Amino acid sequence: MPKQSRLAHRSESDHFFGDVDRRSVLLALLNLIRTEVDLDRLLRRVVDLLAQAMDADRATLFLVDTLSGELVSKAAHLPELPEIRLRSGQGIAGLVAQTQRPVNQTHADDHPRFAASIDRLTGYKTVTVLAVPVLGQETASGRKLLGVIEVLNKKRGSFDDRDRDLLCELADEVATALQQTQLPERVTMKTTERYHRIIGTSTPMQRVYEIIGRAAATSATVLIRGESGTGKELAARAIHVNSQRARGPFVKIDCTSIPEGLMESELFGHERGAFTGAEQRVLGKAELADGGTLFLDEIGDLKGSLQGKLLRLLQDREFERVGGRKTLQVDVRIVAATNRPLEAWVESGQFRADLYYRLKVIELAMPSLRERGADDIERLGQHFVKLYAQKHNKLVRGLSTDAMQRLRAHQWPGNIRELEHCIESAVALCPGLDITSSDLPLPSSLSGLQRSASSDGTATQRTAQKSPDPAHGGSLELPEGLSLADVEQRYIRHTLDRFSGNRSEAARALGIGRNTLLRKLKEE
Ligand SMILES: Nc1ncnc2c1ncn2[C@@H]1O[C@H](COP(=O)(O)OP(=O)(O)OP(=O)(O)O)[C@@H](O)[C@H]1O
Ligand SMILES: [Mg+2]
Repeated sequence: MPKQSRLAHRSESDHFFGDVDRRSVLLALLNLIRTEVDLDRLLRRVVDLLAQAMDADRATLFLVDTLSGELVSKAAHLPELPEIRLRSGQGIAGLVAQTQRPVNQTHADDHPRFAASIDRLTGYKTVTVLAVPVLGQETASGRKLLGVIEVLNKKRGSFDDRDRDLLCELADEVATALQQTQLPERVTMKTTERYHRIIGTSTPMQRVYEIIGRAAATSATVLIRGESGTGKELAARAIHVNSQRARGPFVKIDCTSIPEGLMESELFGHERGAFTGAEQRVLGKAELADGGTLFLDEIGDLKGSLQGKLLRLLQDREFERVGGRKTLQVDVRIVAATNRPLEAWVESGQFRADLYYRLKVIELAMPSLRERGADDIERLGQHFVKLYAQKHNKLVRGLSTDAMQRLRAHQWPGNIRELEHCIESAVALCPGLDITSSDLPLPSSLSGLQRSASSDGTATQRTAQKSPDPAHGGSLELPEGLSLADVEQRYIRHTLDRFSGNRSEAARALGIGRNTLLRKLKEE
C-alpha cells in the first residue's frame, strides 16, 4: 500500500492534533502532489485527507471557475449532488470567498448566510462549519482567490481556533499544489476520456492506444520510444491510469536532471548517516512507487553502475537503501522512456544489453507529429487554443484558415511540445478573435529553408514550403521495410506538406483527382 494512503487512513482512535501529526498531514499532502497523475483524483484525495486531518465528517474543496467567477465544488464528500455552484457572497463558502476570511460557525443554522437549502436538498444535517479561503501567492495586487475549503460536523465537539489555523495552513499547501501542478486544469472540463487527454485519431495514434490498452492490462515493463515532445510522458501516465494500479502512486524520476552521485539515493533512498548530510532516512522513488508505477524518464542517460542496480530491481523487485543492509521488496510496474538510440549504445557498450532486453518487454513507439498528419495537427491545434484561451483568460475563438494551413505545412521538429508552445504564444499575443498565420511564432515560410531534425538527430534541410516546384520538391527518406501502402501514404503526406496542405495542388502534382486523394488519406 502506498505511503500516503497509509497516512490518510489512520484509524479514528489516532490523535491527529499533535504537532507531529500536523507535519504528517502536510507530508502526506506533499507526497500526493508529487505522485498523483490526474488533477481530479488529486483533489479527491486531498479532500479525504482534509476531512481526516480535521476530524470532520465531510469536506468540500470549492474552486473558482475562471469563466463564471462562481465557486464550484470540485471534490466533495457529497454523494447526494453532482456539484454545488455558489456566487460570491452566497452561502458560508461564498462569504469566505468574498471576504477572504475564515468562518468558524458552531451552529450553522444561526449564521445569516448559511444555505439551508442545500441541506434540505441533500437531507444532510450540517451543525458545525469551518470554512477558509485558498489563496494564491502574494502579488502586488494582493493574493488571488483560488477557492474555499469547507469542513462540516466535527466528530467530537466543535472546531476551535487551532483547527482554524491548521486548516488555513493546509489551505496554503493546497494553493501551492494547485499553482505548481502541471496536471491539466479541469475546472470546467469533463474528465472521462479513456486515454487521459491524449488527442489524436490518426492511424499511428490508433496503434498507440491499442498498445497502451494492452500494456495497461498487464504489469509488464514498458519502454516508450520517440522523438522529443511526442507525448512519451503522457503515454506513461495513460498506461498507469488505465491499469489496475491506477489507485496507487505514479512516481517519475528523470535520469537526466539528477547528478550521478545522487541518483542511487534518489532511486533507492538512503539511511541516516549514509553520507555527509544524510541527517535522516529518506525513501527513494522506487519505494514511494510501491503499489503503483515507477516512470524512469530518459533512461538512456542512466549511468553504468546504476544500470546494474536497476536490472536487479527489474528482475527481482529488490534493492537496498544507500547505507542500508536490509533488502527491500516493492511491487512496482516500471515504465521507461527515451529518445536515445539504445540499440547503438548497446552495441558500443554504453548501455547494458541485459537491461535493454528487460526494459523492452512491451515497446511503444510514439509517432512524430509529422507522421501523424494534418488532421491530428489540426485537432491538437484547436485543443491547445481552447486550453490556453481558458488558462490566460482570453477570448480567442479558433484558428483562421491561413493559420491552420501554416500549422499543417510546418515540419514540427519539436513535435507536440513545439506546437503547444506555438499556440500558447499565439493565444497570449493575438489581438483578434481568431489566430491568424502572422500570430504564429513560426519561421517565415518565405524565408527559404526550414530545418527539421531527422530521427538520428542530424539536421536535414527541406525546401521552402511556398512556391513549391514539383520537380524539386525536397527529398523524402524512406526506411527499409515499409509496405507499399505505407510508402504511398508517406509520399502523399510529403507532397501535401510541400503544397502547404493544399489538397487540390497536391492531387494535381500526384496526377490523381482531389477525391481520390481524400479517399487515400482516409484509408491511412
Ligand atoms: N496526444 C496529445 N494530446 C494532447 N497533448 C499532448 C499529446 N501529446 C503530447 N501532449 C502534450 O505535449 C507536451 C509534451 O509531451 P510529453 O512531455 O509527454 O513529451 P515527451 O515525449 O515526454 O517529451 P521529451 O522527450 O521532450 O521529454 C506535454 O505538454 C503534453 O501534455
Ligand atoms: Mg518527457
